[in-house]
Amino acid sequence: MGMSKFGPVVAWLACATSVFAAPPTQATAPSQEREVWITIGTDALKPVRSAFRGQGLTLPDPTYQKGGVAVMRLRESQVMQLGHAVHEELNRCAGFIAHDSEAEAVAAANADAAPQPMATPTYFINNAPSVNALIGEVRELDIRNTINSLSTNFTNRYYNAQSGQDAAVWLRAQWGELAKGRPDISVTYFKHFGWKQQSVIATIQGTTHPNEIVVIGGHLDSINQNSPTTGAAPGADDDASGIACVTEIFRAAIAKGYKPARTVKFMAYAAEEVGLYGSNAIATSYKNEGANVVGVLQLDMTNYKGASDDFGITTDRTNPALNTHVINLITTYLSPLTYTQFACGYGCSDHASWTSAGFPAAMPFEATISTDNKKIHTPEDTLTYMGGTADHALKFAKLGAAFMAEVAKGATEGNTPPKAGPSQHNTALFDSTYKVPRCVEEGLSCDSGTLLNGRANLGPEVNRPNTLKGECPDGTSGIFHNDESIDRIKVSTPDGTDLIAGKTAKIDVTVFSYSTTTDRLDLYSAANADSPEWKLIGTLTPASAGTSTLSTTYTLPTGGVQALRARFRYNGTPAACGNGTYDDHDDLVFAVGAPAVP
Ligand code: BES
Ligand code: ZN
Repeated sequence: MGMSKFGPVVAWLACATSVFAAPPTQATAPSQEREVWITIGTDALKPVRSAFRGQGLTLPDPTYQKGGVAVMRLRESQVMQLGHAVHEELNRCAGFIAHDSEAEAVAAANADAAPQPMATPTYFINNAPSVNALIGEVRELDIRNTINSLSTNFTNRYYNAQSGQDAAVWLRAQWGELAKGRPDISVTYFKHFGWKQQSVIATIQGTTHPNEIVVIGGHLDSINQNSPTTGAAPGADDDASGIACVTEIFRAAIAKGYKPARTVKFMAYAAEEVGLYGSNAIATSYKNEGANVVGVLQLDMTNYKGASDDFGITTDRTNPALNTHVINLITTYLSPLTYTQFACGYGCSDHASWTSAGFPAAMPFEATISTDNKKIHTPEDTLTYMGGTADHALKFAKLGAAFMAEVAKGATEGNTPPKAGPSQHNTALFDSTYKVPRCVEEGLSCDSGTLLNGRANLGPEVNRPNTLKGECPDGTSGIFHNDESIDRIKVSTPDGTDLIAGKTAKIDVTVFSYSTTTDRLDLYSAANADSPEWKLIGTLTPASAGTSTLSTTYTLPTGGVQALRARFRYNGTPAACGNGTYDDHDDLVFAVGAPAVP
């Protein structure tokens, strides 16, 4: 793992040609300087040491070394010098990672030497209606406007410049404005200590899996490598284009009333350009808190089309399963767009921080390492240089929207949330809109549990009558569990697989019967719970008086939100709703998946 980052000297330039062309201009008194711990490949030590010596400087000795990675303590100004030296000597960009403490740096070196098995959730595609709604919502003009605002109003977003922090304040306000009226969304700073710029994080709370976190991020800072503190660093591509995509995905989510099953966090990282400081602080803190981050998408440089393919999938310091998922998203939702794969060769962006912390990350890139925008880190990284549009970035906003809805699951307004994880048996909860027990998520089965136990005001049936929109009341005669009642409805598949349209489903209804000669159970199905047209499945007779379970099967019709109605009647004839004084009616609403696309 560590070896690939610090691998052999490469012939291409990982960053703009003028990067590190001049020695750093910062002149802070050493005593006031922040101390930084870095990890760097041992292969880089020798050439970098000689470059330092050439400038009359001394490279400190590593304090720790493991598996091709060395840990070193530097003053902040030395970090810049190191960047310069790495670039000059090894003809590549910085290629080292900064850490806040020695412990962190050592941990990173150890992790590189013996990569820990990453949590690799199973990724799958089953959320087409919501993905398509989101893809249809993202707009080139919005992305262009955000790139413009950042690259012309905040022309130096250096991590330690006031204008860098001003950009964070501005972005937080923008995101806050978008989130108005959504109590499930918050926008906060992730506070960093030791430099000016804060990271900005917008969070949409997950509805059913709130502890599982999906991250979509880019970096807010920019750099003029010749003059970091005061030089022009519009960073239109690197990385206003990424922040603009993150912002547009966030806007589209809100515009479409998207409610994710998992928690989604939109992140604008501070201080990427100086050693992934911001993302490293965040990823480390999430790791320390035991957060369950199930997928990270990094968008860094999305608007310069340097290659014939539309997306470059970064293969190193990313998660293979998540990369495959991203590729599947491209082929499923963004055809005829194309992709290729490439390696950065080092921890080139914030995905590396998440990978080091043990979380699965992916970085679709505007091109490949050799065909990217050569103007980054210079005053010419402008929108004009990229043709004055956000056409290329738009593809990444679409991909990011698909990523969000296919990793965090959940649904946009009016769509059914698909199953979010491995198939599960669902227990229904009372739904105040349908006024009946409902399983919101797709799964193996849907069970009313105890919610239906009783009839009318007889027994514990709290939300009686538990019929769609309350439209079919129950008879009120008799005594609980002396006379008729439906106590439970469960729907599943006989073969133990998901409830999918077209498949055979099994219904189990637990009833209390007064008499087998007089009592009959009518079962009805409706393909659309929003405007139910009840179709008779059949009429069943209990085998004994008292409690028993009656079962039958039927074919699931097509429809995302379906309903079952059970009517248990004393005499009478089949009907979806009757008025016998001992009749009990109970409904169950549940999600049904669409058949997999071949
Ligand atoms: N966006 C770049 C990384 C990049 C550049 C990726 C070109 C692929 C092609 C990023 O902002 C950056 O400049 N990263 C630093 C690394 C960091 C650890 C200081 C770099 O590449 O030097
Ligand atoms: Zn960048």
